[in-house]
Amino acid sequence: MAASEIYICTACGTESTKWAGRCDACGEWNTIEVKVNSVTGPTSKSLGRKRGTKIALTNLKFSESGLQREQSGFEEFDRVIGGGLVPASATLVGGDPGIGKSTLMLQVAAKFSTTGLSVMYVSGEEAAGQIQMRANRLGIAAAPVKLATETSLRDIRTTLEAERPALAIIDSVQTIWADFVDSSPGSITQVRAAAHELTVFAKRCGTAVILVGHVTKEGQIAGPRVIEHMVDTVLYFEGERGHHFRILRAVKNRFGPADEIGVFEMTGRGLTEVANPSALFLSEGREVSPGSAVLAGIEGTRPVLVEIQALVAPSPHAQPRRAVVGWDSGRLAMVLAVLEARCGVPFVGLDVYLNVAGGLKIHEPAADLAVAAALLSSREDVSLPEKTVVFGEISLSGALRPASKAQSRLKEAQKLGFSGAIAPVGKKSETVVGIDLVDVSDLSDFVGIVFGTSGLKKRKEAHE
Ligand code: TYD
Ligand code: MG
Repeated sequence: MAASEIYICTACGTESTKWAGRCDACGEWNTIEVKVNSVTGPTSKSLGRKRGTKIALTNLKFSESGLQREQSGFEEFDRVIGGGLVPASATLVGGDPGIGKSTLMLQVAAKFSTTGLSVMYVSGEEAAGQIQMRANRLGIAAAPVKLATETSLRDIRTTLEAERPALAIIDSVQTIWADFVDSSPGSITQVRAAAHELTVFAKRCGTAVILVGHVTKEGQIAGPRVIEHMVDTVLYFEGERGHHFRILRAVKNRFGPADEIGVFEMTGRGLTEVANPSALFLSEGREVSPGSAVLAGIEGTRPVLVEIQALVAPSPHAQPRRAVVGWDSGRLAMVLAVLEARCGVPFVGLDVYLNVAGGLKIHEPAADLAVAAALLSSREDVSLPEKTVVFGEISLSGALRPASKAQSRLKEAQKLGFSGAIAPVGKKSETVVGIDLVDVSDLSDFVGIVFGTSGLKKRKEAHE
């Protein structure tokens, strides 16, 4: 068969048999390029009868020496990666440009190198002078980190093979250029090739490799997403611009729990660890006010108290606004619908704004009840009971489902000076000394307990 022509999207890597101005898969314009396939069409060939080599088989026995973790002493970082760096592992650290990935990685490199590990930091983005200046500002210039500024994948691999560091940080994978791939640096095919070569190197030589990747705000992840499956661990560094703290979140981890978070604060001298994040996510000098509820949440393995703020006000628009920061807007729509349908609390003609204090992004369903509490509190202009935390998942029927780890949520609340909790607890009787727990099993019960069923304002009628 003759060589076949296929077309490939340089943005998402999707292959197709015909050219188009716009990629069907990712919606990008002018990204489809022809790729001459030297091999014949993918379906036209099979392995045939030519034999390969028999693969050596092993068993499931675990040898301790295979998983020697290295701690950096940066506790928030160590915990997120599952308790320490695993040799021969590949990790991706993704995040928005300017969020602080390079700063974090330079600090991690310095920490590891001062514990005696050989660390190489390869930057394809900044000049050596810039990095040295930053190191100086961070007070880590004396750390024995081997610094290189290079973008050629071939030269980087050769250097890594010669140096054999225990840890190699590549900042960023989008700047790395593989000479055997003919598309521009930063394109999907380049990023894939670089990530593939570097993860293969990690497995082959026992070096732990950390790849830094930029994620664009539009959610089109020109790079990192497509290499998530190649690496062992995927961490995202998140934070709201204007807020000084940053969250490092494990979204995939072959060597530890996913969803673990580490909290850092960006200061004038780099990132510092925040050991007690609850204090951070409760707004300072907090007084109970309408529209505010405190969620006793779980982030990863750790309980975290977070303030949920809502503003519900008559809308001047024909189409009332629903704006959410730090939570899923689909989930907000669901909570509003359940409040309307099951509890008879209409939000028609009302603007709804929801904000998670401190720039944290919450994913767990146990936040539902705290959101409902904040919404009702703002709508009714009535404060929630003082020093009380709320958590629980709302189902479409209006029934409340108990949340996991209720005990540690309550303990964290007690530790931070709270004295009450409202939550569904189910059959188990979860108690913590010092916390007055009110068990609710249905959203309308919750409305009754907190606001008194008859007292709900009929804003809908008032608005019409
Ligand atoms: P950087 O690590 O370069 O971000 P990324 O690699 O994710 O693009 O961080 C850049 C931002 O961090 C920049 O806006 C300045 C801020 N910053 C501080 O606030 N304090 C510091 O000590 C450093 C080094 C940076
Ligand atoms: Mg950077």
